[in-house]
Formats: sequence, C-alpha cells, structure tokens
Amino acid sequence: MRVLSGVQPSGKLHLGNYFGAMKQHIEGQLEHESFIFIANYHALTTIQDPDRLRALTLDVALDYLALGLDPDKACLFRQSDVPEVTELAWILSTVTGKGLLERAVSYKDKIAKGLSPSMGLFSYPILQAADILIYRSDAVPVGKDQVQHIEMTADMAGYFNNTYGCDVFVIPKPKLNEAAVVPGIDGEKMSKSYGNSIDLFDEPKPAKKRIMSIKTDSTPVEDPKDPDACNVFALLRLFTSAEETEEWAARYRKGGMGYGDAKKRVAELFEENFGPARERRKQLADDPDYVEDALASAGRKARGLAQEVMEDVRRACGIIIAQ
Ligand code: ADP
Ligand code: TRP
Repeated sequence: MRVLSGVQPSGKLHLGNYFGAMKQHIEGQLEHESFIFIANYHALTTIQDPDRLRALTLDVALDYLALGLDPDKACLFRQSDVPEVTELAWILSTVTGKGLLERAVSYKDKIAKGLSPSMGLFSYPILQAADILIYRSDAVPVGKDQVQHIEMTADMAGYFNNTYGCDVFVIPKPKLNEAAVVPGIDGEKMSKSYGNSIDLFDEPKPAKKRIMSIKTDSTPVEDPKDPDACNVFALLRLFTSAEETEEWAARYRKGGMGYGDAKKRVAELFEENFGPARERRKQLADDPDYVEDALASAGRKARGLAQEVMEDVRRACGIIIAQ
C-alpha cells in the first residue's frame, strides 16, 4: 500500500502536531510505502516572503528527520522537486466543475479568517488532488478537516478516468487519523494561532515553564480529582504506558496528589521524549548538505514515479511534448 501525506511548512511544531499527525507519519514508514512531502507550492497561498518560505521548508525537513523519519525508509521530499504536479493540476482543472471547489469548507474558512481569495487559494484542492494522484497513492492519512479534500480528489480522479475512458488514476481513500485533540495550556485545542502551545523543540527550561503553567481547577491537594477533566492528565496519557496511565488515574481519584506532581511528570516525559530529537535537530541544522542530499534524492525518486504517470495522463488526453 502506498501512503502519502503532505505537510504545509507553517512554523514551529507543537505537541498537538506531533501526537495528532507526525507520529503516525513517522510510524507509518515501517508498515507502508511512505511518501511525505513538504507542500511549498501550497504554502505560496499564504507565505509570500521568499526567505521565510525557504527557511520554513527546511524546518519541516529538519523536524521530521530529527523526530526519527528515516530517509532510507520513507520518501521525504519537496513538492516543488516534482514540478509535474502543477501540470497535472492544470489538466485536472479542465475536467473539474467550479461547483465542486465552491463547496470546499477549508476555502470558506480561510476566506472567513480574512485571507484574500486568490485563484491559488480557490484551486488549492486541485493541486492537492494532483499531489495525491500523481503517485497513485492508495491512502492519505489526514485529520478530519482534510477529509473533504481527499473526497474531492477521488471525484477528480473519477472525472478524468470517465472523460477519457481510462483508468489512469487510482482512487485514493482518506485514512482518518483518530488521534484525540491535544489540549493547549489553556485547555483549548493546542494551536500555534492560539498562543497556547508547548513547542516540541523548546529547551527544557522554557518547556517546563509552559508545562507548569497548564490551567487546572482549584481542587485542594487532599481532595479526589477527575483525571478525565484535567488538561495535565490529557497530556500525561499521551506519553505514558497503559500501566502508568492507570496508576496516575488512581492517584487522581484517591486524592492527596497535587496537579504540580502530574505537571512535573509531564515535563520529565517531555524531555525524555523530545530532548534527543532536539539535539539531533541541532546537528542536522549544522549539516545542511546532508539534509539537502536526502531531500533531493527522495525528490528524484518521487519525480521518476510522477513522470511515468504523466506519460499515461498525456497519452490519455492527447497532449504531446517533444522528446
Ligand atoms: P495549527 O492549528 O497549530 O496551525 P496545523 O493546522 O498546521 O496546526 O496542523 C498540522 C497537523 O497537526 C494537522 O494534521 C492537524 O490535524 C494536527 N494538529 C494540530 N493541532 C492539533 C491538536 N491540538 N491536536 C491534534 N492534532 C493537531
Ligand atoms: N492541505 C494539507 C494541509 O493543509 C496539506 C496537503 C497538500 C496535503 N497536499 C496534500 C495533505 C496531499 C495530504 C495529501 O494539511
């Protein structure tokens, strides 16, 4: 099974990004043929500062490699190293009705948040469909917010296959990521835009400070507490074994435990889990040639596959390119 994920380069990662998405991407490298790409063409819909886009693109590569993505197992590449996706996006746009895109919820959300409706933003799902179809991906692991885009991709694959009476495209399926929503230090969904995040690559001191400031209720130390209503417990359980989670739940219910104890354990586990990745990220940042070589070689592999599919696409629709 070929599994593909795209990640927009959008800044510092937090625990929500890791437990909600990246962990599954990285673990997937052992089970499936995994493709993960940095969606830098998509990012142009929101980032129009070239230095910033270059830096953020590199950041995603450093983040994944530091967190354990093995470039010999998974194919981690830049979207732009396969420029054929933009050609496919054009071809798909010619078989896709405007009405389909007008129904895109994420487009409507972005407009509601004040983004200017460029044509790129409007046709974002077509480029996303091209990303998926060009590698004949079987499954696309995504959060709920992206499911509609994968359904639109399946529609576009069908429009093309039907228009040209062929079966060039595999119809992909969303692989719904059921990971729980990770709360931020204020108890709302952790998100960069809410300023409530615990960042993955923070140094131990600031990370501990953030963790110690997680909002809790004012139940006195000696009283029993409900673990399921506690933001600290929600984070704790992401790190602990089933056994340790149960032990903490029992301590909550019994009373005599302060939230500070649970917070300290979260800080300890945070450092155990992400300390080594933070150090590895620093080493990788000092070795830009290694990172560039890894991306470029994965890009060549991905491009080879994409070029084969594009030959079928062009043949199906009668487009000729001089050899
Ligand atoms: P942010 O809200 O910080 O801007 P993104 O929208 O860039 O995060 O999310 C990138 C990925 O991380 C998505 O797949 C999303 O589902 C996942 N993710 C982000 N925040 C959380 C969270 N608090 N809990 C679980 N998953 C999350
Ligand atoms: N739209 C996705 C997001 O915002 C990123 C993305 C671009 C993507 N192309 C993709 C995800 C292809 C999966 C498959 O998160």
